Amino acid sequence: MKFFIDTANLAQIKEANELGILDGVTTNPSLMAKEGIKGNDAVMAHYKTICEMVNGDISAEVISTDFKGIVEEGKKLAAIHANIVVKVPMIKDGVKAIKWFTDNGIRTNCTLCFSAGQAILAAKAGAAYISPFIGRIDDSGWDGVQLIEQIVQIYSIQGYKTEVLAASIRNPNHIVQCAQAGADVCTCPLDSILGLLKHPLTDIGLAKFLEDAKKM
Ligand code: E4P
Repeated sequence: MKFFIDTANLAQIKEANELGILDGVTTNPSLMAKEGIKGNDAVMAHYKTICEMVNGDISAEVISTDFKGIVEEGKKLAAIHANIVVKVPMIKDGVKAIKWFTDNGIRTNCTLCFSAGQAILAAKAGAAYISPFIGRIDDSGWDGVQLIEQIVQIYSIQGYKTEVLAASIRNPNHIVQCAQAGADVCTCPLDSILGLLKHPLTDIGLAKFLEDAKKM
């Protein structure tokens, strides 16, 4: 399973990248706004900076919701860097645009997926990635990991090439569950990635080894 970081924060991207396990970055308009990135030029420059920091796929989301607007915006985003993946919402014009991008050699990440039916449509349109939001599904009282399992199974049976990118990760256990469910990618906040490191027995064991090392 590939590890992406789900943030537009450059310090967090740097920290995750320095761990040596980072395969890419996902952003969205909320994450960009949180970093205070305002105006088209600043947004484009920020994506370029991220592309120069991380050697992997970088998802940049369109904010248009009509076919023509999505295509125009996506073409500009894709021109920033070869690693840009255009993030397109799961709406009717979004699916049409994903098909257009597929036919024109531009890779897409279909975002805001909450059902297997939506994942089938994205795959049919040729999306490179489908992003089911598992945390938001859990928040609404359903089971996000179960949706990952279902999509992975359908894609395997049907031979779809679209990669399942588990998004809206809330904790380290989500990452483990997504790996077990067969997700191709997990995009995670830095805290959840670092949370994988933690185990009290590791801390106790290390303290004992260091204490005994003084007697060596
Ligand atoms: C990533 O591609 C999504 O935009 C993100 O994971 C959404 O996460 P959230 O539900 O924590 O906002």
